[in-house]
Amino acid sequence: MNKSDNLFNLAGKRGFFFPSAEIYGSKAGFWTYGHLGTLMKRKWENLWRNFFLKLGENYFEIEDCNILPREVFQSSGHLQHFNDPIVESVKSKEKFRADELIEEKTGIKAEEFDAGQLDALIKKHNIKAPNGENLGKVQMFNMMFDLKVGAFGKDIMMLRPETAQSAYLSFKREFNALREKLPFGLAVVGKAFRNEISPRQGFYRLREFTQAELQIFFNENEMDKCKDWDLVKKYKIKINDKKILASKLKLPKFYVYHMVQIQKFYLDLLKIPKDKFRFRELNEKEKAFYNKIHYDIELKLDSLKGWKEVAGLHYRTDYDLTNHQKGSKEKLEVNIDGKKIIPHVLELSFGVDRNVWGLIDIFYKEEKERTLFNFNKNVAPVEVAVFPLVNKDKLPDKAMEVYDLLKDDFGVFYDCKGSIGRMYRRMDEVGCLAMITIDHETLKNKTVTLRDRDSMKQIRVKINKLKDVLDKFLDGEKLSKLGKVI
Ligand code: GLY
Repeated sequence: MNKSDNLFNLAGKRGFFFPSAEIYGSKAGFWTYGHLGTLMKRKWENLWRNFFLKLGENYFEIEDCNILPREVFQSSGHLQHFNDPIVESVKSKEKFRADELIEEKTGIKAEEFDAGQLDALIKKHNIKAPNGENLGKVQMFNMMFDLKVGAFGKDIMMLRPETAQSAYLSFKREFNALREKLPFGLAVVGKAFRNEISPRQGFYRLREFTQAELQIFFNENEMDKCKDWDLVKKYKIKINDKKILASKLKLPKFYVYHMVQIQKFYLDLLKIPKDKFRFRELNEKEKAFYNKIHYDIELKLDSLKGWKEVAGLHYRTDYDLTNHQKGSKEKLEVNIDGKKIIPHVLELSFGVDRNVWGLIDIFYKEEKERTLFNFNKNVAPVEVAVFPLVNKDKLPDKAMEVYDLLKDDFGVFYDCKGSIGRMYRRMDEVGCLAMITIDHETLKNKTVTLRDRDSMKQIRVKINKLKDVLDKFLDGEKLSKLGKVI
């Protein structure tokens, strides 16, 4: 089995995620987060909120509907431009994304190529369908889902394909409510929907997915200014395989500042190894239709055979507000220092599910006797597990007492089913950092064992010191500094 299969098996077995409506056969691109996946996704989202919303005193989160009027996407350009290239196998009429087939065979990134260019590449490289059949002509296919709304379905509305539009639609209200100041930021963490042609990449390309996006509205004239420039100018940013000093980049300071913050989020908080993180600039053809400057944030994922986009930093100019002003006929220009301007937008856009998959891929380890996730506490779905050594002799009652003691301060899981060895292995497989065992000695001297997931070594800890020791341990203190290794 390859790594991707191993991850899917483990994810399903332990409760990270599994196909939605599985008992009815399920449809590609729709997934259910199980209890562990939900805990992990929430942690990721809260980490994101706590980090990015603190970058500006005027940055806040809003929540909007998933279903929006069709006119929104007329103005945003999605009805005209949000297309994927579809190609059919001539006999069985199976549908594929033309750019994906081309990339798989040639390595050429062809996501933004037009139908003619894709046809030419298919011909030049003699690309066939995975079932060996010849391919027909490439056609463009709009990726939005539409819905009939109301009793007779007279109104056509769309499931939003990105959360960003919700921030633009709320711009006027929130700008006024937030004291008419720039820059100001509106974040949305919520669902988006895309009718992917053939979501073959498992958990990476979904039809219903979660985005965490921050839209920062700012004055175009301020783009090369940054009040915290001195704090970031010496930071080295990883672009492709090079590390480049922030001050040396030929990009506006406001943009570079946010590149630094994004890199910090990945390296310092999520603890992604440096060699698995990079920015990559998209060329003119690859860029989304609304972007002037567009770097993707990519993680190196073995399960997906290389570098994969998990986020993007997009300078969208005044494209969105200008078009919504035209389309809605509502004035979206604002008065700043006596001048009427349409604010420009810097968008920090993250695919939450892709990020969860990234963590699952990067922190998965296979050892001789076990498999594990070596998550840090910021992303681990379970931080501490509590077990009785055996399911008798009053040990379960004592273990429950310890569970109750810890449950308000840590993400704790209680288990008493099976041998202690099996319980340890199960918790290794969910990436739990600390395992506490209540044994016969606990009843005599009020101590428990604390097992470190990574080294599998243990120390004995007094129950009345347990919270304090766990705090330090989860913050990265070595086990040997916290007690005598037994
Ligand atoms: N909002 C940008 C994107 O969905 O990629």
